[in-house]
Amino acid sequence: MKRKIFLLLLVCSFSTYSQKFHGLALTPPMGWSTWNTFRGNINEQLIREAADAMVSSGMKDAGYRYINLDDYWQGGRDSMGFIFADRAKFSSGMKALTDYVHSRGLKIGIYSDPGAMTCTGVLGSRGHEYQDALMYAKWGFDLLKYDWCNTDSLNAYWAYSTMRDALYAAGRPMIFYLCEWGNNSPWNWGKDIGHMWRISGDIAPCFDCEINHMTYSDWGVMKIVYFREGIRTFSGPDHWNDFDMLEVGNGMTIGEDRAHFSMWCMLASPLTAGNDIRNMNAETKSILTNREVIAIDQDSLGIQGFRYDVKDSIETWVKPLTQGDWAICFLNRSMNTKEIEFNWSKNIVKDDFAKRELNPEKDTYKIRNLWTKKNIGKTNSTLKAELDGHDVLMLRLIK
Ligand code: GLA
Repeated sequence: MKRKIFLLLLVCSFSTYSQKFHGLALTPPMGWSTWNTFRGNINEQLIREAADAMVSSGMKDAGYRYINLDDYWQGGRDSMGFIFADRAKFSSGMKALTDYVHSRGLKIGIYSDPGAMTCTGVLGSRGHEYQDALMYAKWGFDLLKYDWCNTDSLNAYWAYSTMRDALYAAGRPMIFYLCEWGNNSPWNWGKDIGHMWRISGDIAPCFDCEINHMTYSDWGVMKIVYFREGIRTFSGPDHWNDFDMLEVGNGMTIGEDRAHFSMWCMLASPLTAGNDIRNMNAETKSILTNREVIAIDQDSLGIQGFRYDVKDSIETWVKPLTQGDWAICFLNRSMNTKEIEFNWSKNIVKDDFAKRELNPEKDTYKIRNLWTKKNIGKTNSTLKAELDGHDVLMLRLIK
């Protein structure tokens, strides 16, 4: 009897610490990260300026919250094994930095790796997971991105579970962002461990390219859209497929940036800007802060959209929304202008996963163009439009 009670207590105490912080990402997290533009060239001044820019640019009002430090903030470990930040880059200390970001009404994220070293070769968390989690909590961070470099024969499930447990034991609610590129199919096991997981290798600021580095590649935005087929059913509130940080404002054309942003919203991906938000032009800002497009991403139903049709390089993507609305995105994959002719009543869309049907024969929907922000008629007549190459026509059908 005594033994049974002991075992029961042991199981209970283990499961108390074996959980993630639930409910922190009921819609896809929105923020900004240092990596795409600044790589390892980061310091406290940049982070403070980015927090200021997130507020002054209107991004905060549009829903962005997280200012994320990526790789290369690490300094070393003290004699007890506790990590400290690079003292030259973060001379005021991490607590002062998180206080500053919080004072702007924002949240702040940090980065590590389950290996002994991160991808840039600075200190990872191996063997120090609980100490590192304690430190992030003490400093006041709100999100941890946990990468997958130098992990040798580590088991991904256990490596990420260990850090999840360490974060939970440290006691400060933090979004846990799994970044193992989809190598170990985290959509199969990540739901109880983290709030979002990368599904691909790193993004590059080009529409459809692959940048081959011999042992790995970086991927153009469209390549990432098609990287993993068939995983939409694994994404949802508090456990998102992440299509990587955005490259909006990093060199593609306006149409390509618009297509990239629209697709991330259709896919219900977390939206992490990756440009220099301190110095962005009006067009970049208007893409990143288009609230009607963001509303598609942030829809509380939390359903990842899917490709319904492909004809002559025009893809039709659909996403069911709350209250019977739908988002429809026509994507021109080619470089040439194309004509679209879409007869709504001949296109009855069924989403068995979301248990939703778009049936314009039964219901007439109002149509709103989300980029021009104009109402453009109803679904009782055929839609005709011209679409530039590498661009989108993104619509909301309102019931
Ligand atoms: C990996 C990740 C990137 C970034 C770098 C940092 O490549 O996938 O998103 O965090 O590491 O070194």
